[in-house]
Amino acid sequence: MIQDIVQAGVEHASVMEALHQDGFDVPWSEQSFMDLLAQPNINGWIAGPTNPMGFILIRTAADEAEVLTLAVGASHRRQGLARSLMLYVLRSLKENAVKLWHLEVADDNGAAIALYQSLGFSESGRRAGYYLRPNGHADAVLMTKQVNDFRSTSD
Ligand SMILES: CC(C)(COP(=O)(O)OP(=O)(O)OC[C@H]1O[C@@H](n2cnc3c(N)ncnc32)[C@H](O)[C@@H]1OP(=O)(O)O)[C@@H](O)C(=O)NCCC(=O)NCCS
Repeated sequence: MIQDIVQAGVEHASVMEALHQDGFDVPWSEQSFMDLLAQPNINGWIAGPTNPMGFILIRTAADEAEVLTLAVGASHRRQGLARSLMLYVLRSLKENAVKLWHLEVADDNGAAIALYQSLGFSESGRRAGYYLRPNGHADAVLMTKQVNDFRSTSD
């Protein structure tokens, strides 16, 4: 699986928009992906480039990196794609001497929290009521992982 991951460019913005629509109630537009990918400290990777199945977007600042977004198409989930994307990015972070990897996830997103926990991320903070939901709010859970402590059977 890992060999089917390539670095994303602005030409992948429309594919990212489509995959994002599949995963989020408030999807980001093609233009926002183009704007993000044009920034020098933001990098994206696509899984299954000829038949795009998922992607990840990362922002790096000094020795820290942040997952900006991650989405796998609904029909491709539970096949290890998100894990492969995270582990692929991890290699890049290590090569670039990144020390801390962090992200933010809604506390009602059990699939994503399970994924991050399985990779060794742990909760480091919380923003109460950060995400608006049709029937209320969900907390944003901040999760972090020391890159050099990363251990995984697939790593
Ligand atoms: C979260 C998401 C990216 C996971 O992608 P995926 O490719 O299906 O995940 P993987 O197959 O790599 O799963 C890896 C591990 O994560 C956990 N996991 C993933 N989906 C899960 C689910 N629906 N329920 C419980 N655990 C889940 C499991 O531990 C899984 O390992 P296992 O299959 O061996 O049990 C995908 O569900 C998605 O795109 N959701 C919508 C967008 C989103 O929420 N993005 C994250 C925002 S922070």
